[in-house]
Amino acid sequence: MHETYSVEMRQIVKQFGSVVANDLVDFRAKPGQIHALLGENGAGKSTMMCMLSGVYRPTSGDILLHGELARIRSPKDSMKLGVGMVFQNFRLVQTLTAAENIVLGEKSSFWRGAKWMNDKQQEIEAIAKHFGLAFPVNRPIWQLSVGEQQRVEIVKTLYRGASLIILDEPTSVLTPGEAEQLFETLQHMKAEGKTVILTTHKLKEVMAASDHISVMRKGKLIHSMEKSATNERDLARLMVGKELGESRTFLPRAPGKRLLDVKQVDVYADHGRKSLDHFTLHVNEGEIVGVAGVAGNGQKELAEMLTGLRTWKRGTILFDGKDLKNGSVRAAIEAGIAHVPENRMKSGLAGSLGIVDNLLFKSYRTKERSRFGFLRMGMNRSWAEGLVEQFDVRTSGLDAPVQQLSGGNQQKLLFAREIHQEPLLMVAVHPTQGLDVGATEGVHRLLAEMRDGGKSVLLISEDLDEVIQLSDRILVIYNGQIVGEMSREQADREKIGMYMAGLQVDEEVAG
Ligand SMILES: Nc1ncnc2c1ncn2[C@@H]1O[C@H](COP(=O)(O)OP(=O)(O)OP(=O)(O)O)[C@@H](O)[C@H]1O
Ligand SMILES: [Mg+2]
Repeated sequence: MHETYSVEMRQIVKQFGSVVANDLVDFRAKPGQIHALLGENGAGKSTMMCMLSGVYRPTSGDILLHGELARIRSPKDSMKLGVGMVFQNFRLVQTLTAAENIVLGEKSSFWRGAKWMNDKQQEIEAIAKHFGLAFPVNRPIWQLSVGEQQRVEIVKTLYRGASLIILDEPTSVLTPGEAEQLFETLQHMKAEGKTVILTTHKLKEVMAASDHISVMRKGKLIHSMEKSATNERDLARLMVGKELGESRTFLPRAPGKRLLDVKQVDVYADHGRKSLDHFTLHVNEGEIVGVAGVAGNGQKELAEMLTGLRTWKRGTILFDGKDLKNGSVRAAIEAGIAHVPENRMKSGLAGSLGIVDNLLFKSYRTKERSRFGFLRMGMNRSWAEGLVEQFDVRTSGLDAPVQQLSGGNQQKLLFAREIHQEPLLMVAVHPTQGLDVGATEGVHRLLAEMRDGGKSVLLISEDLDEVIQLSDRILVIYNGQIVGEMSREQADREKIGMYMAGLQVDEEVAG
């Protein structure tokens, strides 16, 4: 009977010290199946996948591949058995080309010379083409977009003959267009009889792209069903274990005076290209301004400029009536600007440090947190405990390095720190990235409360649903400039999409 399953996990337990991340999990998937794995932040999804790919070993339980007991003791073992995993943080060497990264680790690859590499390159291009995964094979990784890098990772697994492909939150780093392309690729894999396991918190994607769905909660696999047997609402309830609140109706907008006034600034990106060009934007008190756009059109530089991480070259920025200091993180914090950055582990959290230290980064100078230059450790611990509880950060303890938190719980921690400073302006880039449906709702509520209390939010996101749902005013950024603007009432997906693509919108249609 078991031979019908390409993968079968039996009674899997995984413990990290006292934390039981997987608790007697039974999981099965078939060839030619796209299997979505859902669950709250910290439910144990990544842990489960990491055991299939040999990153972790189960504390107990068995893994069978194609009906046979599999001994997976390392990523190498799993690769040999036809398992390939694409992690959220890619594992590519930045200075090598895409093709070199793909063959990397093959026996004595490079000294075989140019002819060998040429043949390999053709092989790689053929695989990429077959599965609809275009990327420049000969360019170094650092010159590739995030979406392209992900394709390199996927082709790497296919090149090594994977028949089970595991993707951990693959779409959280993709633009909506790239995500659609990825799902087409997954259909190709399915047609070839491969098994695809993926996690995502976007229930729409699950309903559109998967065949079978398994739901985890608190380390247990609680449900497994055909897609046709469920719907978005039921899935949300299964994951969270309760009915979610109704979506919010917004109070009438009463914007106050101008809080942020950016006029005609130029900003350059790391590679020297101009990213913001004669850029102008303003945010009033008591409003949420959404900036929609395809990644790479200046959003990152905009957020960095406002939070002191990047300098601007000409023009002026007024904040709360005063000149904002150019390129000073401390000045931005003191002025009342908070920041949820795009990449939480790169510019938000220090992975090897514990929760208290990470929470203190922004406020250690305040009199509540330190006295005569010394941190008030006892008080800070109970303060941190309070925040962890309030924001439902699931952790094994305040001293555990934050890199051991699940992805969504890292995001919750970062958001807690930023909103806790009671900023005048929150610059929030993909603030709900990696959050489950319940936590997403919580973040939305807090942002709306900021706005209702007369504070302001600059929401930078590629998730159009989120932008439209939350923003009082929507701006569209394209090629370093704001090319379109509309109010909540005028918001129209299609129109935003056209602005995002850099198309001229007929003013009459735009109304
Ligand atoms: N290396 C580790 N050391 C200690 N605890 C860990 C480690 N990795 C994971 N955990 C714990 O195991 C639990 C499950 O984490 P996991 O990353 O599997 O969750 P997840 O379902 O992937 O969540 P998310 O949706 O937020 O990504 C969490 O409580 C986490 O803190
Ligand atoms: Mg995870």
